[in-house]
Amino acid sequence: MSELDRREILDWLREKGESRLDLLWQRADTVRRERVGDVVHLRALIEVSNHCRRNCLYCGIRAGRRIQRYRMSDSEVLGCARQAARLGYGTVVLQAGEDDGLSTEVVALMVRRIKAETGLAVTLSLGERNADELAVWHKVGADRYLLKHETSDVRLYRRIRPGCELTDRLHLLRLLRELGYELGSGIMVGIPGQSWESVCDDIALFRDLDLDMVGIGPFIAHPDTPLGRNAHRLALVAEKQVPATDLLTLKVVALTRLVCPTANIPATTALATISPGSGRQSALSCGANVWMPDLTPQEYRQLYDIYPGKAGGQLTVEEQHERLLEVLEGMSRIPGAGPGSRRDSRPASAG
Ligand code: 5AD
Ligand code: SF4
Repeated sequence: MSELDRREILDWLREKGESRLDLLWQRADTVRRERVGDVVHLRALIEVSNHCRRNCLYCGIRAGRRIQRYRMSDSEVLGCARQAARLGYGTVVLQAGEDDGLSTEVVALMVRRIKAETGLAVTLSLGERNADELAVWHKVGADRYLLKHETSDVRLYRRIRPGCELTDRLHLLRLLRELGYELGSGIMVGIPGQSWESVCDDIALFRDLDLDMVGIGPFIAHPDTPLGRNAHRLALVAEKQVPATDLLTLKVVALTRLVCPTANIPATTALATISPGSGRQSALSCGANVWMPDLTPQEYRQLYDIYPGKAGGQLTVEEQHERLLEVLEGMSRIPGAGPGSRRDSRPASAG
């Protein structure tokens, strides 16, 4: 990103004028339509385990929090995958904390069974795992891996993810690409301590990593986490601190569409959580082209408590599906039927 581009991105991030911002939304929406079309890819999210060995300061399933833990069996996961296939979703996303109980073999079996019985694309989002198991999972059929870097600010990263280093994460992202995975990453917007410049760096990094998927959600304070309780201690002085608002999240979505024109960008649940009723539509009208309905069984969904008030958390799978179809129809967008890989994305028009 040249200095000028960077300046422009910073200016957009700080822009307050509504009519100027309308230009940004329009530009992002046009690029989205021209480069990836009107199809909205549907990915079924299955939160397979809330065990985690990490202690990220912001996260409600951190190891140090005393909560009820669960791990779904492979038959339960397969049941969700079948439901995803019935509803016409092209992908399942298996998401969990960094759970050693999800061994190489357990995950490999899940992936094999899902591929054999449903043929769906499989995305894994299981945190930092070792090179051998990542290779095995790809070999047995996992197509994509989602590993958010959360922030490109090395010091902030270290503070909010104790015991973790950004360089390890970036190294792993490159390894995943070499192994042949389609690659997803992303950030939280408005982390206490996050500066405007670092969000610029995040957007530049999305482009440098040539990501296939970029997930962008607001930071949501979880009252039972260190960062949720003590946000003020990490926060920068007001003019330097990026706010965790829907507006800023949308700006980052739109700018990401401009720098990564063919990436798959979800309208995230975190955004829908802080903008109930309009978050998904707003994201879909300023660059996003993916929706990830939550197919986790209800009893587990409430235990996957990464942040409070998760949008859609109370709705049944069918209710979420109805709502999704209604929203897409209202926006003249097409529900995706296939796997929706970036490689085979072709602009399709609702015409
Ligand atoms: N606010 C927003 N997103 C969060 N995540 C975890 N905790 C929070 C929070 N408090 C997201 C992170 C992480 C995933 C597990 O959930 O982006 O990648
Ligand atoms: Fe675990 Fe991920 Fe939460 Fe960190 S953000 S505690 S790695 S689930």
